[in-house]
Amino acid sequence: MKYRSEITGVGSYVPPKVFTNFDLEKILDTTDEWIQQRTGIIERHWVDDETSNSDLGLEASLLAIKNAGLDKKDIDMIIYATLSPDHEFPGTGCFLQAKLGLHEIAVLDIRQQCTGFIYALSIADKFILSGSHKNILIVGSEIHSKGLDKTPRGRNVSVLFGDGAGAVVVSRKELLDSKKDSRVIATQLFADGAFAKELWIEAPGVACGNDRISKEMLDEGLQYPQMNGKTVFVHATKRMAECLGSVCQEANVNLADVDLFLFHQANLRINSKVAEMLSIPEEKIFNTIQNYGNTTAATIPLGMDDAIKAGVLKKGMLVASAAFGSGFTWGSAVFRY
Ligand code: UT7
Repeated sequence: MKYRSEITGVGSYVPPKVFTNFDLEKILDTTDEWIQQRTGIIERHWVDDETSNSDLGLEASLLAIKNAGLDKKDIDMIIYATLSPDHEFPGTGCFLQAKLGLHEIAVLDIRQQCTGFIYALSIADKFILSGSHKNILIVGSEIHSKGLDKTPRGRNVSVLFGDGAGAVVVSRKELLDSKKDSRVIATQLFADGAFAKELWIEAPGVACGNDRISKEMLDEGLQYPQMNGKTVFVHATKRMAECLGSVCQEANVNLADVDLFLFHQANLRINSKVAEMLSIPEEKIFNTIQNYGNTTAATIPLGMDDAIKAGVLKKGMLVASAAFGSGFTWGSAVFRY
């Protein structure tokens, strides 16, 4: 029997507290005008309590499993994508597994930042097609707000990021019609570590001395993300356009046949530029950055859930997705939803 990987359930969760650009004006020496003009962001959700990354992941997961029409006991693997883990180790997926009350199923944490969901989808597809697993839960979840420099020193990065979680269930089904069946059709994954320090958190880490962080490093703010925004911007547009084109070629679909584009949400200007480079009509791109900011690994599943709720993404549609982020990592996917 030939198998296919179908996205059978999608769910998402954002913490209730909204922080607008005007709220940030009060603490970050920034303006609503600057943030909207440069990024498109209007507001983001930030936790304001003890909520952990796996708590957000749990809410999104329960909804995705329910929407797949499954019981949580049907899940046989968890792939957890995050750059803001609950603890240094073990991976946040283990904490989620315990919160779901599941035991023994495989748990894999991946560290591909903004490209985390595309990597996770590709990995899940391979496990499903091999026949070894039946229902894989993918979670992208981030709590950025607890790790941002919320002083004017960090304004170039801190205005960009939001908290949230998205989850999907990828299920094994029999392949009957490769043209019509809902399935992951192609995924492509890339990285270039030569640019690792263009967007990173330096410390703590074992490369940072015997105690992994020093008081001087903390004073310098090395525990916060550092970004060379212009370099990231240039590479993001180039790489996203490139890998979208090549994944469509591999999937044997024309860009014009794609019903909906679900891009990573780092900057509205990046997505507009990619659309311009590939002559994609802007109305085919579902953007969510206005209300969430950049939620890194959560962005694409969160956007997918919003697109479903808005009636924009419907069963049977052809979807293309692309992301770019720290690493540098980038990747793309074509799937029939
Ligand atoms: O998910 C993947 C990771 N992230 C990305 O893909 C982000 C890619 N990069 C970008 O989106 C853009 O580079 C940013 C939105 C981050 C920045 O836009 P930019 O047009 O590249 O601005 P810039 O960093 O060159 O800064 C321009 C000016 C500077 O002032 P001067 O030197 O011109 O006087 C900054 O100090 O804007 C200033 N600035 C701010 N002003 C108000 C930087 N951050 C802020 C801020 N509010 N938050």
